Amino acid sequence: KCKKYKKTSYLWVFTKKNKIMIIEPRMRGFICLTAHPKGCEKNILNQIEFTKSQGPIDGAKKVLVIGASTGFGLASRITSAFGSNAATIGVFFEKAPAPGKTASPGWYNSAAFQEEAEKAGLYAKSINGDAFSTEVKNKTIELIKADLGKVDLVIYSLASPVRTNPVTGVLHRSVLKPIGNAFTNKTVDFHTGNVTDITIAPCTDEDIENTVAVMGGEDWEMWIDALTEADALADNALTIAYSYIGPSLTEAVYRKGTIGRAKDHLEATAFKISNKLDSIGGKAYVSVNKALVTQASSAIPVIPLYISLLYKKMKEKGVHEGCIEQIVRLFKERLYTGEAVPTDEKGRIRIDDLEMAEDIQAKVSELWEQATTETLPAIGDLNGYKSDFLNLFGFGFDGVDYQADVNEVVEIKGLV
Ligand code: NAI
Ligand code: NA
Repeated sequence: KCKKYKKTSYLWVFTKKNKIMIIEPRMRGFICLTAHPKGCEKNILNQIEFTKSQGPIDGAKKVLVIGASTGFGLASRITSAFGSNAATIGVFFEKAPAPGKTASPGWYNSAAFQEEAEKAGLYAKSINGDAFSTEVKNKTIELIKADLGKVDLVIYSLASPVRTNPVTGVLHRSVLKPIGNAFTNKTVDFHTGNVTDITIAPCTDEDIENTVAVMGGEDWEMWIDALTEADALADNALTIAYSYIGPSLTEAVYRKGTIGRAKDHLEATAFKISNKLDSIGGKAYVSVNKALVTQASSAIPVIPLYISLLYKKMKEKGVHEGCIEQIVRLFKERLYTGEAVPTDEKGRIRIDDLEMAEDIQAKVSELWEQATTETLPAIGDLNGYKSDFLNLFGFGFDGVDYQADVNEVVEIKGLV
């Protein structure tokens, strides 16, 4: 593989010398260091096709998605654009291609999204930078004011291990730990299929504060305050953030752990924001989504084993969903039905209903007891997990020639 680059403006251009550039997955722990531009494009095309197949959604027309390049945020952007013909502005933090390195998957996803939006005659622009910063907020608001005037939907879908608070300058790091006692349970290394016991030591009080600072609602509220101040929110605007609950199996490390405290804070922030938006008839909701393989969730111990058992049962029952199926359902059957938005007793939208169904959970708990390295291939959907994980990076898609020469230098048009 040849490594000669020429710098033209802000892009590194790969120059080939009679060599074929093939991009393969390079795994390191819970991440893959490479991403495939054609595979990421295929992922976008598949999601667009699914969205269109579900028919039009009478939704928002001007949408800001914070965390728009992967996972639930990307699905929200695609659903808005290709379900409701919305103009979208996407904010994300992705790596551009560099000499000897592919871009991050969210970069290629956003480049492909942009191409398809343009083909469909849809407005789309993106900002690549730290959404927690005041600078990126200001830049985004300037763009909204100049191009769209106001937005009528703000999706908040960040997942990050760190946040610098723009007011205090303090860098907070989130942790995924139980609170109070050490927690021991089964986990799987999804690359090898090895099921082992893992013990996670309890967190400190500081860990809780830091995790809430990163994944709680403070930054969401800052965004809505800044948008309100700039008069960039339309009457009746909605804002949605994503949360997770899950079963008692994962409670110690998720909902009753440090990340759960952050989700409690996020959910409480929805009420705070709703009050602030009263004067424009706006509202903030948290939507509780299904456990899915994303870059964020694969790093949480215990969760991958739970997901592989869950997938098996949900696929058997024919109720399995990915990010795009989840978000299309959120928009079509919860947010934009023309009627009041249905919520649970805590004011949350629930699209984790199929995951949390009693029969599914009963079966997953039963399988959990049986899960070992030997039994997992038969009782769990480890292959489904692995394939979803590879898909995140643009690998393993039907219809993509992975042996073909590919240029990893891809530009995101519409990047501001
Ligand atoms: P993801 O890792 O796929 O997406 C994260 C997004 O945030 C990407 O677009 C990334 O570029 C962006 N981002 C991260 N740090 C940033 C920064 N500093 N500035 C700008 N953009 C930044 O994550 P996923 O899984 O889609 O998570 C989104 C939300 O959904 C999170 O709140 C997560 O807790 C929640 N959720 C996830 C579930 C899951 O199973 N994956 C289940 C239920 C909720
Ligand atoms: Na996201």
